[in-house]
Amino acid sequence: MQNFVLHNPTKIIFGKDRIKALAREIPKEARLMLVYGGGSIKQNGVYDQIRQALEGYSLIEFGGVEPNPDYDTLMQGVELARAQGVDYLLAAGGGSVADGVKFMAAAIPFQGDPMEILTSWGKSIKQAVPFACVLTLPGTGSEMNDGSVISRRSLKAKLVFSSPLVFPQFSILDPVTTFSLPPGQTSNGVVDTFVHIMEQYLTYPVDGKVQDRFAEGLLLTLLEEGPKVLAQPENYDVRANLMWCATLGLNGLIGAGVPQDWATHMVGHELTALYGLDHAQTLAILLPGMMKVRAEQKQQKLLQYAERVWGITSGSDAERIDAAIEKTSAFFELMQVPTRLTGYGLTQECIPAVLEQLQAHGLTALGEQADVTPDLARKALEARL
Ligand code: NZQ
Ligand code: ZN
Repeated sequence: MQNFVLHNPTKIIFGKDRIKALAREIPKEARLMLVYGGGSIKQNGVYDQIRQALEGYSLIEFGGVEPNPDYDTLMQGVELARAQGVDYLLAAGGGSVADGVKFMAAAIPFQGDPMEILTSWGKSIKQAVPFACVLTLPGTGSEMNDGSVISRRSLKAKLVFSSPLVFPQFSILDPVTTFSLPPGQTSNGVVDTFVHIMEQYLTYPVDGKVQDRFAEGLLLTLLEEGPKVLAQPENYDVRANLMWCATLGLNGLIGAGVPQDWATHMVGHELTALYGLDHAQTLAILLPGMMKVRAEQKQQKLLQYAERVWGITSGSDAERIDAAIEKTSAFFELMQVPTRLTGYGLTQECIPAVLEQLQAHGLTALGEQADVTPDLARKALEARL
């Protein structure tokens, strides 16, 4: 096992009717800004619950954060917060709102051009406004991690940053708030969680037995609960298991002490930046392609995955690996997320543009072995036409 430091300061408040806890957690004297997306929280009762819990607080609002939150939109929120002396932010929504608030938290006190937050991958962050999150879409893990992904459409860029200063103070996870998710977004959350786990599991063995078993347990939970949630969207226990799975999938726990990949994610971000695909859709395309073209380097973990997650024990090594890749994409398809470029109307012609973006962003040596060059990314994409 590799050396590691694990420090996650985010408090999780999980369960039914927990939005009330906001008043206990946020200082009474805070000058608060509630940040949300396109309005789903107004339709599913989350907005009303928040307003009720925060009665008596000094509270302003900033709505309209779009999926794949945009730099220019967020900067409007930053200006408003600066003008109003806001000193505490509350995100209410999915990963996009949570990520957007992380950026705003760092940008409000930032000296200089806030674009540097992104170009330095978060290293230039010296301070951040405290913030919390009411999560309504499980998948990204943003509610309990220090990462954020911000798009800048005017530059066709989707950029990642992280900083220990942007862990949420606390996050409220009420599975009931996820009952209103459209099936496509529910599925996106399941696929995103699945791929987060794979990015930290499907690398090379370092005898991280605990991490492997945690990861396999989470994957098996997704296989069990994913199809159920589409059939029973208001089943509390199914929603609760998926929500907790998503948080544990990317809160640092399963990735501590093991190598991590993230090539699927980084190439996927370019597909979103260029063609507007949902984050999880890009992952459903790319993960099977990456598994296929990197089967040699990942052989040992692929065989372990085949056996322990899918129960595949017969056939040659190559046959067992192929069967595991096939089962993985079939699971995404079962979740109604297409796994081929053509499923989104994309053809061979999109591939050079993706490779150009990878070059432009310096993403030319991705993955746990730094061997995912644009050429290998091309092969992974070609495998998914
Ligand atoms: O905007 P509103 O009206 O709230 O609607 C949203 C949005 O249209 C809707 N929604 C959310 N909760 C709902 C709901 N609709 C009905 N009922 C509810 N309970 O769902 C739509 C998508 O929301 P979004 O927040 O964009 O989805 P998701 O949570 O999948 O977030 C995706 C973003 O997170 C980034 C992705 O790149 C993408 O930008 N990621 C962040 C990560 C992190 N911070 O660690 C890691 C991930 O790998 C990922 O890259
Ligand atoms: Zn993801």
